[in-house]
Amino acid sequence: MKIQLAEDLPIDNHSKSDFCKDVLEGLKQNPKKLSSKYFYDKQGDKLFQKIMEMPEYYLTNCELDIFQNKSNIITESLQLQGQAFDIIELGSGDATKSKYLLKFLSENNFDFNYMPIDISGNILHELQRNLEIEMPDLTVIPLEGEYFEMLEKASGISARKKIVLFLGANIGNMNKQEAFQFCKDIRAKLNAGDVFLVGFDLKKNPQTILDAYNDPAGITAAFNLNLLARINRELDADFTIENFRHYQNYEPDSGACRSFLVSLKNQVVTVCDERILFDENEFIDMEVSQKYSVEEIGQMGEAAGFHVAENIYDSKKWFVDSIWYVS
Ligand SMILES: C[S@@+](CC[C@H](N)C(=O)[O-])C[C@H]1O[C@@H](n2cnc3c(N)ncnc32)[C@H](O)[C@@H]1O
Repeated sequence: MKIQLAEDLPIDNHSKSDFCKDVLEGLKQNPKKLSSKYFYDKQGDKLFQKIMEMPEYYLTNCELDIFQNKSNIITESLQLQGQAFDIIELGSGDATKSKYLLKFLSENNFDFNYMPIDISGNILHELQRNLEIEMPDLTVIPLEGEYFEMLEKASGISARKKIVLFLGANIGNMNKQEAFQFCKDIRAKLNAGDVFLVGFDLKKNPQTILDAYNDPAGITAAFNLNLLARINRELDADFTIENFRHYQNYEPDSGACRSFLVSLKNQVVTVCDERILFDENEFIDMEVSQKYSVEEIGQMGEAAGFHVAENIYDSKKWFVDSIWYVS
């Protein structure tokens, strides 16, 4: 693998002061809220990898089914026409699924670079190390930071056709309005001929969805509680982790599956030298995992200014990777 390091690539965009500001802002809201983008420190990355391996967390296997078995169909839909291009992956994580597309493209001698974008430097380093072993000839340009800042950076590095991947139903971690705005903002950063490939988790049996986020082993609970532990570690806070409990719900009508941490007693927590009061049963809104119908996906893509060209499903039709063109 050739790792290209542009001189001015940012190393760590999430300074302590940004983290502190975001956490305090969220904990002073009513209801209290924490941004799920902070889930992913070293411990959070490990826990998310465990979540992906859980039998209840069907999302990984569904999208793996698509990338393992349909990378040829995906490739046909990317309108590559022999030109060189960049694969830019937003929130790549460890690239569990996209690796299959990268391998297919490499084996078929396509001319491309891979630019994984992730806010977690830890997971990007792990990805780099693994790709070095698995795909030594691939040119990888890791970009550590926020989606849009790094997409801008990627455009500065290369003017080639962009294939932007946003997998794992990451888009579900925004509410519908935020997701629509996100798609419009992505569209504004792309040029004619570019492609946006987005993974959506589809509405299905509500119990199946709830079970994926409410596992009996408590790994999802640990993943949520780790954010309080991270705040303790990095912001000298004093959350007593045992005083909070994970609660999950799913609303079949809206398609929102939501995680909360509930305070088990009246308590005061000090964060960044400020005292935050919690009432018994007060909750922190941690994360939404929004589920969509195929119709909702089509409407959102077209309204955001894309042409929704193709939907590629797993064999159960529980998940879709939707391919959107910029014309
Ligand atoms: C749910 S994981 C999914 C990983 C991968 N896409 C997959 O499908 O397996 C989300 C990833 O997005 C990254 N992430 C979350 N918010 C981000 C942001 N605002 N900017 C950049 N990366 C972000 C996290 O660090 C994490 O690695």
